[in-house]
Amino acid sequence: MYLAHVIINYSMSRIVIADKEFDLYLESVKIQQQIEIMADRMNSELKSRNVIFIGVLNGAFMFAADLLKRIHIDVQISFLKVSSYRGIASGMNIKRLIGLNEELKGKTVVILEDIVDTGKTIEDILFQLKGFRPSEILIATLLLKTSSYKGSAKIDYIGFEIPDRFVVGYGLDYFGFGRNLRNIYMLGEGEEAVTNEGEGKRPEDERLEEQRT
Ligand code: IMP
Ligand code: MG
Repeated sequence: MYLAHVIINYSMSRIVIADKEFDLYLESVKIQQQIEIMADRMNSELKSRNVIFIGVLNGAFMFAADLLKRIHIDVQISFLKVSSYRGIASGMNIKRLIGLNEELKGKTVVILEDIVDTGKTIEDILFQLKGFRPSEILIATLLLKTSSYKGSAKIDYIGFEIPDRFVVGYGLDYFGFGRNLRNIYMLGEGEEAVTNEGEGKRPEDERLEEQRT
């Protein structure tokens, strides 16, 4: 078990999670202002469509809640989780979408993500959602690591373009901690965060693991 706890200083300008220090990067007010702008755009652009929002758990829970409170058109809301199963044969990596029971056929699907980094996760989700025959799939992400994005999919709604540095807070975690923070914090330049996708992975996670989403 990786033991970690979050230490927050009084000014909320710096936090410590496990062995890492993170500095305040995006304040809550700024995040909320940007979400309001995204919601306004969606309210006008998606008005006459048959829309279902799909939040990607765990990371997008806060973004989804704050955004959807500002959506005033009639929409359906659902959530999914991505799990990845690494088979015995090397290199075999099968991803599954869990928790999605709604009919998507003919609908406008809007995926809600907390962060798009290389784009691998979103491409996997897109590929699988296409199988449900929606009329279109739009992507909304609060954060986009522009320089690391290698995907070909167009990101329709972007909250903030951020540098290729590890962030926590507002749904995003480091070893499962920090998701409840209202601000977003960034790891110092040149510092590397070992996540459970890397060396920090426990042996029992090897076969069936929940992806960091
Ligand atoms: P991608 O597949 O490379 O686009 O990475 C997507 C997933 O990696 C996200 O859904 C997050 O769960 C995780 N991730 C990427 N960057 C960060 C970060 O800076 N902080 C926390 N999680 C991250
Ligand atoms: Mg995510």
